[in-house]
Formats: sequence, structure tokens, C-alpha cells
Amino acid sequence: MGFDSNDFHSFVSSRRSTRDFLPTPVPDEIIEQIIADGLTSPSWSNTRPIRVAVAKGDVRDRLSKEFLSRWEAIKGARSGLFGKIKAVLKRKGLPTSNWIVTRPYHKDLIERSKSQGKEFFSFIGVDRDDKEARDQSWARNYEFFGAPVELFIFTHKSLRKYSASDAGLFMQNLILSAHSKGLGTCPQGAVAIWEDAVRKEFDISKNYSLLCGICLGYPSDEKINSFNANRPNPSEIILPEKN
Ligand SMILES: Cc1cc2nc3c(=O)[nH]c(=O)nc-3n(C[C@H](O)[C@H](O)[C@H](O)COP(=O)(O)O)c2cc1C
Repeated sequence: MGFDSNDFHSFVSSRRSTRDFLPTPVPDEIIEQIIADGLTSPSWSNTRPIRVAVAKGDVRDRLSKEFLSRWEAIKGARSGLFGKIKAVLKRKGLPTSNWIVTRPYHKDLIERSKSQGKEFFSFIGVDRDDKEARDQSWARNYEFFGAPVELFIFTHKSLRKYSASDAGLFMQNLILSAHSKGLGTCPQGAVAIWEDAVRKEFDISKNYSLLCGICLGYPSDEKINSFNANRPNPSEIILPEKN
């Protein structure tokens, strides 16, 4: 095939999550092309247990507005008992799906998550103790970081983790396809907490549930886009043999 694997390594390792976008629209043909590239991934018995909701234009704007207002409501709820009681009474903003984001990380995972947060906030100049600034940074998720397109990835409930695995394989091919065209992406678990809002905008079977979003667009020159998240060495994930 005449394919150089060094080229692959430099291409794949040059992808980074993008967290600030230009408003430049992404043509429909490009969105379709990257979804087609996504679909070159393997899939459990070729079932393709995934569906994609493409939010752009008015739908994208309405969802962003709705998410931001829910986030405003829940943001207060995180500070102090009174705020929590108020939020529970109002119910506004409380997650309707993906409660994982509200739970603490397992002790096996907390170290990497903590150092990611520490390095990221220090890079963008946000003091870890400045809750307001951290909340503002998180709220950017609900503006889709300024991206003109948000893809919502749904997975078929019946195949459980294999649906998520299929979606992951699909997403990575899609993300790399976007990267090859000079587009930026960021997978977003943050937008998976209000599945009901997405369901109001798209016709989605109840057999599917929302896994995450992916924002898509042309990256800006903002510093945040040059953050290089730590990548582990293979030895950190390769299991030792039993003696
Ligand atoms: C399923 C999934 C959900 C994610 N959710 C978010 C999110 O809500 N907000 C965000 O800024 N980044 C999110 N990320 C991006 C990760 O933080 C990022 O991939 C990781 O730090 C490694 O950095 P890199 O993508 O630049 O290599 C998510 C990534 C994945 C795979």
C-alpha cells in the first residue's frame, strides 16, 4: 500500500482536544465525509449500534442556551447545603442522564484525573481554588467551546459495553478524519447529563441512550488549544505476567 507507519504515528499523535473554535461553519459535505470515515471502524457483528444527532444552526444554539441555563441552576446547587436543597426542590438543572459525572472517581483513577485538572488549569492560568473561574471554564462545554457543530453520539442499550466500544472506535476514526481536514474536535461527557434536552430536538428511539457529544469546527489560535495532556507510557497500562 506504500503507507509509512512513521507518518501514521506523527499524524495520530498530533491530534489534541480543541477547546476554542472559530465561528466558521463546517460544510454539510464535510460533516458527512467525516461520519463516513467514522463508519470505516470495526463493529460488533457489523451491527453499528450507534446513532448520531448533528446539531448545527438554530438547533445547536437552542441546545447551548438550554444547557447553559441548566448549568446556571445546578452550579449554585453545588455550593452549600442550602443551594443543594433549592436545586432538589426546583429540580432544574439536575442531571437526567450520565450521573457518572457527579460521582467521585474511583481510587484507581483519581490520581490521573487530578493531575490532568491541575496541569490543565495551571496551563490556562486558572487558580485551582478559584471555583468561579473553574465553573466558567466548565461552562464553556455548554457553549460547545464556540464550535458551530455538536455531534451527539447515541448507543444501543442492548449491547451494553460493546455498543460503547463500537461508538469509541467510530468516534476516533471520525475525530482523526476531522483532524486530517484541519478541523478540531473535543469529546464531551459534560453534555451527556441532559439527554432529555437532546431528545426534544431529534427523533431518537428509546432503545438508544446518549454516550457523549463531540464538538466540531475550525480551531482558533487561543492558547487553550496548545495544551498537551499527559500521555502515559505503554508500560503504565501493560499488565505484568503472574510469576
Ligand atoms: C468520552 C470522553 C468524554 C470527554 N469529556 C470531556 C468534557 O466534557 N470536557 C472536556 O473539556 N474534555 C472532555 N474530554 C477530553 C479529555 O479530557 C481529553 O481527551 C484528555 O484529557 C486527553 O487529551 P487529548 O484529547 O488532548 O489527547 C473527554 C474525552 C472523552 C474520551
